[in-house]
Amino acid sequence: MNTPASPETTPIGTVLIDRTEISSRIAELAGEIDAAYASLESPLILLSVLKGSILFLADLARSLTVPVELEFIAVRSYEGTQSTGSVELVKDVSMPLRDRDVLMIEDIVDTGTTIAFLHEHIRRHAPRSVRLASLLNKESRREKSVTVDYVGFDIPDRFVIGYGLDYDGIYRNLPDIRVLDTDGD
Ligand code: IMP
Ligand code: MG
Repeated sequence: MNTPASPETTPIGTVLIDRTEISSRIAELAGEIDAAYASLESPLILLSVLKGSILFLADLARSLTVPVELEFIAVRSYEGTQSTGSVELVKDVSMPLRDRDVLMIEDIVDTGTTIAFLHEHIRRHAPRSVRLASLLNKESRREKSVTVDYVGFDIPDRFVIGYGLDYDGIYRNLPDIRVLDTDGD
């Protein structure tokens, strides 16, 4: 059998940010976002970048008091712990964004390649505004200049898993953010 180890019996890696810190930081971010979008013309579109951002989206959306709609977009840009450097659109948005306020929701901004690509792509839909909220930010790895309007946590250059973040598709369901120690990478 080659199934992933259960997080209950075999915790993987070491905790970098625990669930309590995540939840209190999201409450703070929600306060900032509510204040920034206090005078909306139509509901704010929370544009979740699949799949990594969905836990952040779920908690942030429930902490916001401004009216929101949820929308999803999917890209592929990363394999294992190495960025491929190129971004492929896997699923486009399925609603008009013209003249709407869009807040992109990301799990992590690393080199910035994904967000630079998405920003460009979304602007072609002629929204009223586009901003970005990312739970995590690895500033030291930046290759593309991007603005992260709302940052949950700045983290060092380590590969992290949990709370939406994966290693080859697994560990997204871990409730804390952990550093995955990989040998030889
Ligand atoms: P970027 O295009 O280099 O900014 O990478 C963005 C994407 O790479 C994120 O949306 C994640 O899916 C993935 N990624 C970057 N760093 C990590 C990490 O430490 N753990 C898990 N996924 C990561
Ligand atoms: Mg990912």
